Amino acid sequence: MHPEQILDYLLSQDQEQMQQLIKQAGQVRDAQRGRQIYLRGLIEISNQCSYDCLYCGIRNSHHHLTRYRLDRDTIIQLALFIWQQGYHSICLQSGQIDDPDWLAELVDIVAQIKIQTRQLDPEGRGLGITLSLGELSPAQYQEFFDAGAHRYLLRIESSNPDLFASIHPPHQSYDQRIECLYQLKSIGYQVGTGIMIGLPGQNAHHLLQDLDFFKQLDVDMLGMGPYIPHPDAPLYRSHKPVYLDPYLSTLKMLALCRITMPDINMVASTALQSMHPQGLQRGLEAGANVVMPVLTPDDVREQYNLYTGKKNSSGEKLLAAIRALGYEPGLYTWGDAPHYHKRLQHR
Ligand code: 5AD
Repeated sequence: MHPEQILDYLLSQDQEQMQQLIKQAGQVRDAQRGRQIYLRGLIEISNQCSYDCLYCGIRNSHHHLTRYRLDRDTIIQLALFIWQQGYHSICLQSGQIDDPDWLAELVDIVAQIKIQTRQLDPEGRGLGITLSLGELSPAQYQEFFDAGAHRYLLRIESSNPDLFASIHPPHQSYDQRIECLYQLKSIGYQVGTGIMIGLPGQNAHHLLQDLDFFKQLDVDMLGMGPYIPHPDAPLYRSHKPVYLDPYLSTLKMLALCRITMPDINMVASTALQSMHPQGLQRGLEAGANVVMPVLTPDDVREQYNLYTGKKNSSGEKLLAAIRALGYEPGLYTWGDAPHYHKRLQHR
């Protein structure tokens, strides 16, 4: 698709044109990837965060929040439980970690989960482990990889350096984020990034630039969701204009990314599901093929409050919803993006 055509879709207010775009994306997904929706059991292991992103409800300066950290046994037991439920892929997520002792312990936790689930797996592969722990050093990324993690999610939030700077404090650097993404790739992770959509000051040209960035980075996975203002975060009081409808523009971006990058994995994000009752359905229609059920323990779930109204869809209800929409939940599989394997062959 030509950049002008992409921009035309992003700028268009025409409902019919949007429907047609989503239909095309759904057809691409069905033809190239089938109707299987991969699942990642999400464990939000801690809401502690040393960063201060201006949009986020768990930012360091947000003091009206009880901070938690799941302990080693809780994480390992939960991972084993998730495995037994038939989810063969988990994601461990937290805020930005600055405690080296806890990072070292987490490496060991990852190794333990791999060892224990490999023993339970006739094929010896064990749980697929995705990490989303923020910006770490190359050595730390390597340690986690050696311990058995194979995917890493690190959103760029916006690939435009000025827009990135406008939603982050000065000491959080765009260049460092980019550096991390390339380090993750060179270590051999399946790498995912993504953006928020509908940010103050963000326009269709920014989204076009994001799409280009995803291609340049040669991503394996994408997580895109609407920006949902959090009243306790500073961006809530931004005076900049909002040009994009967060919900509709997210659906358009999903569709455009699916059409232009058929072999990557793309999530129907929790934010998308939280923003609209039909978020899951519309996200899958627009070409998403991954869902991340939130399996964080009940007693701390409310504390992982990234934005207002975060929906915690999980378990049987979510599987039933996926089936009711005519898709097949991808249980008992890692569900890698074919893009990753193609990428390795061409190295
Ligand atoms: N609205 C939508 N998404 C948000 N995130 C953080 N805060 C918000 C918000 N207010 C997203 C960011 C981050 C991911 C974990 O959650 O994109 O990378």
